Order: sequence, then structure tokens, then C-alpha cells
Amino acid sequence: MKQMIIEGNNKLSGIIEIGGAKNSAVALIPAAILASGKTTINNVPNISDRDALIDILNVLNCNVNLQDDKLTIDTTNLKNTLIEESYSSRLRASYYFMGALLGREKYVEIYIPGGCNIGSRPIDIHIDGFKALGAEVITEGNKYILKADRLIGTDIYLRFQSVGATINLMLASVLAEGKTVIHNAAKETEIINIADLLINMGANISGAGTDEITIIGVEELHDATISVIPDRIEAGTYIILGALCGEKLTIKNVIPEHIESLTDKLKEMGSHITINTDSIEISKVDNLKPINIKTLVYPGFPTDIGQPMSVLLTQCNGISLFEETIWENRMGHVPSLNKMGANIKVNGMNAIINGPTKLKGEEVIATDLRGGAALVLAGLTAEGTTIITDVEHILRGYENIIYKLTNVGAKIELKEI
Ligand code: EPU
Repeated sequence: MKQMIIEGNNKLSGIIEIGGAKNSAVALIPAAILASGKTTINNVPNISDRDALIDILNVLNCNVNLQDDKLTIDTTNLKNTLIEESYSSRLRASYYFMGALLGREKYVEIYIPGGCNIGSRPIDIHIDGFKALGAEVITEGNKYILKADRLIGTDIYLRFQSVGATINLMLASVLAEGKTVIHNAAKETEIINIADLLINMGANISGAGTDEITIIGVEELHDATISVIPDRIEAGTYIILGALCGEKLTIKNVIPEHIESLTDKLKEMGSHITINTDSIEISKVDNLKPINIKTLVYPGFPTDIGQPMSVLLTQCNGISLFEETIWENRMGHVPSLNKMGANIKVNGMNAIINGPTKLKGEEVIATDLRGGAALVLAGLTAEGTTIITDVEHILRGYENIIYKLTNVGAKIELKEI
């Protein structure tokens, strides 16, 4: 078990470099299964979700080589074996092995995925899509068996623009026979990154990034290389940190267009923010205006930035509303924020945040990845010492967080307990 100890209320300045996007990398790595040779992925973030996926690749007898942020995966000797629950439950993205192995091998045995406790997280949209392609899906307790003699392209209508289902169905259909059209597809930037890797492998995909993706099946996929796009959620988290305690804090390696929904809100609040081609500079100002945020699918305000943003809303002058529309349990961090001095009332998936309130250091618990990140921001803003336990959640998604924050003047350390 690890905890973070933070001495707060310091001004932060300098540069934070953003790494590769977690939610891209965690799909690109399983996608490598589809090429019957070597896939090279650059700019892979150094997060524990990466390591959990590499462990699964090793179970499947892939040859994996990691050097700094460059990951090479050779699937020549792939052995399609059961992925046990001790592997699948370590993260959500283990379910991308369903689409990838079904696509290549027409057979998968895997236990249910894990992931943050932010909602019930069913996978019915994925399963319905696999079935539409011709797969038989059998459940035995927590285990899924997916099998097909042939996968045949078809029209698939998603009842919700699910990121995971869109990616999984792209993975399952690139080697299917004929044409698949995914209607009401998710448009998140990560989906374009995954489609680009598949296209580099020889897949025929058009429309990624729109709500209609067309895939024409091909017989085989070959060696390919891709770079993981910058993590817009990591960037958003540190941009909010700049608004909380930055003194010309620069967030570098950002695609500003990917986080416009956040930067627009920061401008509306009266933040001091400068947007450059691939970096954003931000400083703390007093008297921020309260605002309302409502999380939505891309290009709306990202659900993964709602919790970090709620910390900034505690510092605004007046009442802000935070409305979550994607996950039922996005408010797990609120009791900790209130313990630190915030005034937040939760009603179901909505929160009313009354500011400004001074935050003070406390012992708090990270209940999930983004909620944990919110507590780091709160701890860095608060006066005194904050101790966060269960920080494993945070380490799943924020690479080198201690180094990156210490480098800009934060007093934060990681302790084994
Ligand atoms: N949903 C269903 N059935 C399904 C799939 C989804 O009902 O078969 C529902 C979910 O319960 C949820 C909504 O649809 O209410 C959205 O789910 P989606 O499938 O889009 O989310 P996901 O693919 O499971 C990814 C990210 C999440 C991020 C969401 C939304 C990964 C590994 N995870 O999850 O990231 O919040 O998209 O953008 O890519 C995080 O990084 O902290 C995180 C939770």
C-alpha cells in the first residue's frame, strides 16, 4: 500500500510535460494482437495499467519489449489461452482483448474486466455488437467465452456512444468479412488514434472521430508503428492545477483543440490562461467566477475532468453546479473535499459547490483514479499536510506524477506503508 504526503499552498511554476494518453495506450496495446507480426507503439505512458496489459500479452505468449516509452509487441508465437480473472480484473481495458482475439482467432476466453468504481459499468453494448458480427457469447459465472466460425460485417447501432464498445467493435471487425458500419459511434480523440494504428496495419477504416465508422474487412494485418496521442485528461488535470496554484505554470505537449471544452470554461471563469500551439500557460487569479459544468461525450466537457474541476469550483466566488451524466458514482471524492473544508452538497449525480472555501490538509482516501487526482489538487492547494491513502488508483493513470509535480515546486512524496 502506498500513500501520498503533500505539503500544500505553494506556488507552482515551470513546465509539466504531458505523456501519452492512458485511454489510447490501453487500447493500442491489445490492438497489437491483430497484426500477425510486430507492432511498435511510441510515447507509451509509464502507468500501472500499461504493466497490467503487458502481463496479459505475456500470458498470451507474445514477445514484448519495453524501452523507455517505446513498446514493441511481436505476436508471431501467440497462444490463445484463457485470461484469468487475476489479470483481467486489474483494469477496465482488459476487455479490448475480447475484440482483438475474437477478430484474429475467432475465439476468446476471458474473465470480466476491472476498473474504477464509478458506476455499474455493464458491457452489454460490446456484447450485442460482437453478436451482430456473428459471435456466440457464453457466460460462465464471471467468465466470457466468445466464439465464431466466421465474423461477417454488418450495421451495428450503439444505443449509447460508448468509447469502449466503439473501439472493441473496430477491433473485432477489421478482419471480418465484408463491410461493418458502427452507427452512433463515440467520437473521442483516442478512437482516431486506435483507427490510425489499425490503418497503419493495413485495415480499411473510415469515419473514425465521427459518429459513423465504416470498416471493410481485410484478410490480414501487418507490422505497424504508431505514437500515442498526448493525454488530454492528464493535461486537463494539470491545467486546473495551474488555475489553483500556478505562477506561470506551463503544460507542454498538449493538443489544445482536444481540451477546448475545459479551456473555454476556464476563460468563462476569468482564469489567466494563454493557449499556444502545443502548450498552455496558466496562473492562479483571485475572484474566479462560479460556473456550471455538465459532463458529456466528446467534444463535450469530459467526465474524467469533472472531479479535478470540482476542486477549482470550491475556490470560485459563489455557487457552481457540477452535473455528471456518464457515470453514477462520480462523487466519491466529495466527502474528502468536504473534510478538507469544501462546501459541496451532492444530490445523486449532481453537486452544488459553494465557494470560495479555504482548504486545509487532512487524511483522505482516493476512491478512484480521477477522484484521487482531485484530492492531489486539493492537497496542493490546501494549507498544511494532506495524506492520501489508496493512491494506487492514481498511479494507474498519471505517469511519474511525483516527479512531474516536484519539478514545478510541489512538496509531494510517495510512501510505502
Ligand atoms: N455503457 C453501457 N454498456 C456498455 C458500455 C457502456 O451501459 O456496454 C455505459 C456506461 O455504464 C457509462 C457510459 O455507457 O454510463 C459510458 O461508457 P463508455 O463505454 O463510453 O466508457 P468506457 O469505455 O468504459 C472510457 C474510459 C473512461 C471514460 C469513459 C467516458 C477507458 C479505459 N476508459 O470508459 O475513463 O470515463 O470512456 O469517456 O478508456 C478514466 O480514465 O478515469 C476513465 C474512467
